[in-house]
Amino acid sequence: MDRKQHWSDVYSKRAADRASWHQLRPALSLELIDRAGVDPKAGAIDVGGGTSTLVDELLEQGFANLAVLDVAGPALELARARLDDRADRVQWIEADVTEFEPARQWGLWHDRAVFHFLTDASNRKAYRRALEAGVAPGGFAVISAFSLEGPERCSGLDVVRYSPESLADELGAAFELVESRDEVHMTPTGAEQAFVYCLFRRV
Ligand SMILES: C[S@@+](CC[C@H](N)C(=O)[O-])C[C@H]1O[C@@H](n2cnc3c(N)ncnc32)[C@H](O)[C@@H]1O
Repeated sequence: MDRKQHWSDVYSKRAADRASWHQLRPALSLELIDRAGVDPKAGAIDVGGGTSTLVDELLEQGFANLAVLDVAGPALELARARLDDRADRVQWIEADVTEFEPARQWGLWHDRAVFHFLTDASNRKAYRRALEAGVAPGGFAVISAFSLEGPERCSGLDVVRYSPESLADELGAAFELVESRDEVHMTPTGAEQAFVYCLFRRV
């Protein structure tokens, strides 16, 4: 599967606010980021950020060193256009997270509904390498995925569903699980999707 092609087509062929994962405001992510007490100066990266408005919210909160990474160029274009002048304050990284070699570290790594698409162990290992390189000791990761009650597929692709424990196992000893929360997301067509959100701290 050509990920770049798949996801670029998704954003080119349908309005972003019709996507199943669309949310008006990433409320639970923001709540966990607030609870973690991430230092805004330490910056943040939204991995597979797509057209999420998390970056708008973090800019509003005064975060420096903000980055949004996505394999789909059209998603980044849409997010940049939405932010208009403020887009220059964000680093836009068009890349596959499994091939990403961070050139710096951030105080926060955020991923909503991206890691769960990695059905191959080798891809998950590559993701973990990028995560470990991108987050300094004492930094945080907020990762959300479909929970054990969630759908088995999204956007025509298989996913791996997680409990907080199985997600923590995947991340390994470098990350300790601080807190987890469940959320039932309502898609634009009214379907329910069960997510688990996990806050990790880099040891
Ligand atoms: C389900 S959407 C979630 C978007 C966003 N995180 C949100 O909550 O609205 C998954 C996003 O991850 C991106 N993506 C999927 N696989 C990726 C990969 N291997 N590397 C980088 N981005 C990826 C897709 O282009 C898409 O924007």
